[in-house]
Amino acid sequence: MIEINSFLVMNNFSIKDTMRIIGNNGLGIAFVTNNEGTLLGTVTDGDIRKALGNGTSISTDVEQIMNTNPITVQEEFTSHDLKNNVHQRIKGFSRYYTLKVPVVDNNKKVVNIVMYNLHDNTYELLKEFNSHQTKDVKKVLVVGGAGYIGSTLCHQLIEKGYDVRVLDKMTFGHGSISELQKLPNFELLEGDLRNITTITSALENIDAVILLAGIVGDPASSKIPKETIETNYFATLALANACKYYQINRFVFASTCSVYGSSSGIVTEEDALNPLSLYARSKIDSEQSILNLKDTNFAPTMLRMATVYGLSRRMRFDLVVNIFALKAATGDTISIFGGDQWRPFVHVEDAASAYIKCLEAPLKDIAGETFNIGAENYTINQLGEFAKELFPEATIEKTDKQVIKGALDSRDYKVSFAKAKRIIKFEPQRTVKKAMLDIKNAIEQGSLDNFNDKAYYNVEMAEKKSVPDNSKEI
Ligand SMILES: NC(=O)c1ccc[n+]([C@@H]2O[C@H](COP(=O)([O-])OP(=O)(O)OC[C@H]3O[C@@H](n4cnc5c(N)ncnc54)[C@H](O)[C@@H]3O)[C@@H](O)[C@H]2O)c1
Repeated sequence: MIEINSFLVMNNFSIKDTMRIIGNNGLGIAFVTNNEGTLLGTVTDGDIRKALGNGTSISTDVEQIMNTNPITVQEEFTSHDLKNNVHQRIKGFSRYYTLKVPVVDNNKKVVNIVMYNLHDNTYELLKEFNSHQTKDVKKVLVVGGAGYIGSTLCHQLIEKGYDVRVLDKMTFGHGSISELQKLPNFELLEGDLRNITTITSALENIDAVILLAGIVGDPASSKIPKETIETNYFATLALANACKYYQINRFVFASTCSVYGSSSGIVTEEDALNPLSLYARSKIDSEQSILNLKDTNFAPTMLRMATVYGLSRRMRFDLVVNIFALKAATGDTISIFGGDQWRPFVHVEDAASAYIKCLEAPLKDIAGETFNIGAENYTINQLGEFAKELFPEATIEKTDKQVIKGALDSRDYKVSFAKAKRIIKFEPQRTVKKAMLDIKNAIEQGSLDNFNDKAYYNVEMAEKKSVPDNSKEI
């Protein structure tokens, strides 16, 4: 149960202290009172970010920026009073927005809070409200939101009622998010994360950031090392710094289980890292630098994702499960290099849902935390057996050549996902076998074709020119 006290700040509290209280209460608002507890005004996380963006210092007293004429209702209010008070004042909010209206007694002391849902005009009182889901995040910036995981995540976010802005340089085209572009609660900012002006524009009116953009995979990273270091490290850190400055304190970073490289036993988040590539090193450098920014307010979270598989609107056929399914379904030979190496796996829909879990978890549970995100560990040979079982006509050969295009891949590790299950309640739902069948069906129905198209393979697109620095909204 949330207490009223967790919403109250004194008028001489700093913006930073106020933001910490707002972050912890999880509702995006604080009520400013004097010594006697009389309500003087309200302040939202959005008000604070706007003030910081206008150059206000984070140590300024909150009374300098509060709203001195907030909507309130008296004790014993009727639903008619509430509706009237709200609709006289509120226009143009997202239809999913939940307004938090203070209930005051005759001495203007806050005694309760009404959570008023603008989309259906229903409400509930805080004292009856017993949800563990935080409601401070309304608009999410997904950097890299047009990619394999990002486009899946954006569809899930929109379905759940979030407002979404994507910043992406659109390496793989617009197809993955074209349906979303028709929606009022979705925006695309086409631009390059490596541009500071683009970063600050992308962060306007944003409550939480999910950073997926990067040069992804060992082969692509080794082909364009300069761009990898710029994107996966320098630009990543610049974005995290900007978020901390603007008090966008939920910052979820896409790291990878590749940081474990080759390890024995089942590795947990506490185990030693053993990066075998520039890609993995760039992720470790970013993890460490972002976590160093953590303070009482800024609450970054690292998601070390297993190898992802499954259908996405931006399909990748450079991921082992997807390529095995493609080969089996199209009568091509599946070549297995080695085969005894262990890897962790997760379906793209489940991977996407892990990010949403982080948006909805209490800040204290995710602040400065690292989670392995995956479902199961398999050897590459086991994946071959799944393909053979599902597609008996499939041919499998052992080879001394790489299965996936690019540099030699010596990763071999088993990963524990217990922490994510325990803390953010991450429960993956999908299986490798079902995903292989889904890919086969999509191929048979013609929704996937032209399998040699470079857009399916990150390494092939690695040298594609970035968009120019002057980002454009479309
Ligand atoms: N797919 C996996 O198996 C897997 C596993 C572990 C971790 N990850 C991590 O998840 C994230 C997303 O992976 P994915 O498979 O969706 O990759 P992806 O290549 O499909 O998507 C990356 C997106 O980032 C965009 N991008 C790249 N550089 C950019 C820049 N400078 N500015 C703006 N946009 C830029 C690309 O245009 C693309 O849309 C990556 O950070 C990756 O390291 C992926």
